[in-house]
Amino acid sequence: MPATCVVGLQWGDEAKGKIVDLIGDRHQFVVRFNGGANAGHTVVWGDRTFKLSLLPTGVLKPHLTSVIGNGVVVYPPRFLEEVGQLVTAGVPVGGNLVVSDHAHLIFPYHMEEERLAEANADGKIGTTGRGIGPCYQDKVGRRFAIRVGELLHPAHLRERLRQIVPMKNRLIAAFTDGAAKTFDADQLCDEYLGYAEKIRPHITDTTRLLHDGIAAGKHVLFEAAQGSLLDVDHGTFPYVTSSSSLPAGIWTGTGVPGKHLTRTIGVVKAYTTRVGRGPFPTELDDGPDGTGERIRKIGREYGTVTGRPRRTGWFDAVAVRYTAALAGADEITVMLLDVLSGLPELKLCVGYELDGERIDYFPSDSFLLEKCKPVFETLPGWTEDITGCRTFDDLPRAARLYVDTVQQLVGLPVSVVSVGPDRAQTILMEKY
Ligand code: IMP
Repeated sequence: MPATCVVGLQWGDEAKGKIVDLIGDRHQFVVRFNGGANAGHTVVWGDRTFKLSLLPTGVLKPHLTSVIGNGVVVYPPRFLEEVGQLVTAGVPVGGNLVVSDHAHLIFPYHMEEERLAEANADGKIGTTGRGIGPCYQDKVGRRFAIRVGELLHPAHLRERLRQIVPMKNRLIAAFTDGAAKTFDADQLCDEYLGYAEKIRPHITDTTRLLHDGIAAGKHVLFEAAQGSLLDVDHGTFPYVTSSSSLPAGIWTGTGVPGKHLTRTIGVVKAYTTRVGRGPFPTELDDGPDGTGERIRKIGREYGTVTGRPRRTGWFDAVAVRYTAALAGADEITVMLLDVLSGLPELKLCVGYELDGERIDYFPSDSFLLEKCKPVFETLPGWTEDITGCRTFDDLPRAARLYVDTVQQLVGLPVSVVSVGPDRAQTILMEKY
């Protein structure tokens, strides 16, 4: 099995990190191909919790090579901060972590551009504020973009920043009411050259590294960041992130052709969450004593990156059927099932009502999805604590029925059921 992809099939935060942690050892490379420090990956090992936003979760396994592919946008201080946190926690980080020389760099002016854009209520997307969108804008626009490899050429970097920064200052001033923040090219260059010295040992041509690895029969695990519904092309545009979070992003984001991908694992929560703005048909907006708040509290549904409370809602089978098809998922893993324990009944969205008409597909426009009312199927809940269950048969009947129904509605086998954050709190199904 040369290459596997782990991808979230909702709006992110599906606990993909746990699955990567679970199957990582079957691979030699763990690769990120999209996004930047906007992702939030939490891995729990006993009493230790690791929160990563830029580095691949694979970095927690120092015997694997963790790769930040060319499709990722890199903010050097964050990179060094995460490396520092790991080293302090006793996780060695050295030659096992590599970053593509083709990956694009985030600069502080990207964050300022984003802050100004988000300050406008009309255009607000509810981003993570990490400079992701403006950096990808510069990548596609080409003129103002600087890649990681350029950090290794001080004179060239200074020249590029001296060209770019005055333009950025003018752009930022044009968007500002009052005193605009300004940036100094030489100061920025000195700062980034300082980072460059520390990052230098990690910078390489990751495309060639992966091509050589695959040719030598090594196994690769691709770790998608964000969720499929945040994909810039296929997600709930414009309330999406700025990269391809579907497995389609692997080809461009790493240089590894899609034909190598032999297994795609779609990760879903037993319910749904989303952070930031945008349509969410099954949202439970039912007040401080409601089910939505209960799920948020029990599931600790607060953003890993921003700490924002996540919006919560019922499982949406229409959305997951759509993303599973886009991702080419072979199986799904159902995470955080334990969070639903104690609810008297559980709802699953099986269709939408749009302008009085029943539809069973995911509309292609956010403004249409905004108008969709969910059509629910209701199942009985269970009261038992399921966090100690280790086989499917250990689960109460109602929980088994819930998982079976998800499987049926999505049309894919469930290979893993997660009943708690710890590695051990995992039910591996036959397919696994
Ligand atoms: P950006 O990626 O910071 O530009 O934010 C765009 C949208 O994607 C916002 O709604 C964010 O909350 C959301 N987003 C970005 N990364 C993640 C993630 O890892 N999990 C969940 N939502 C995310």
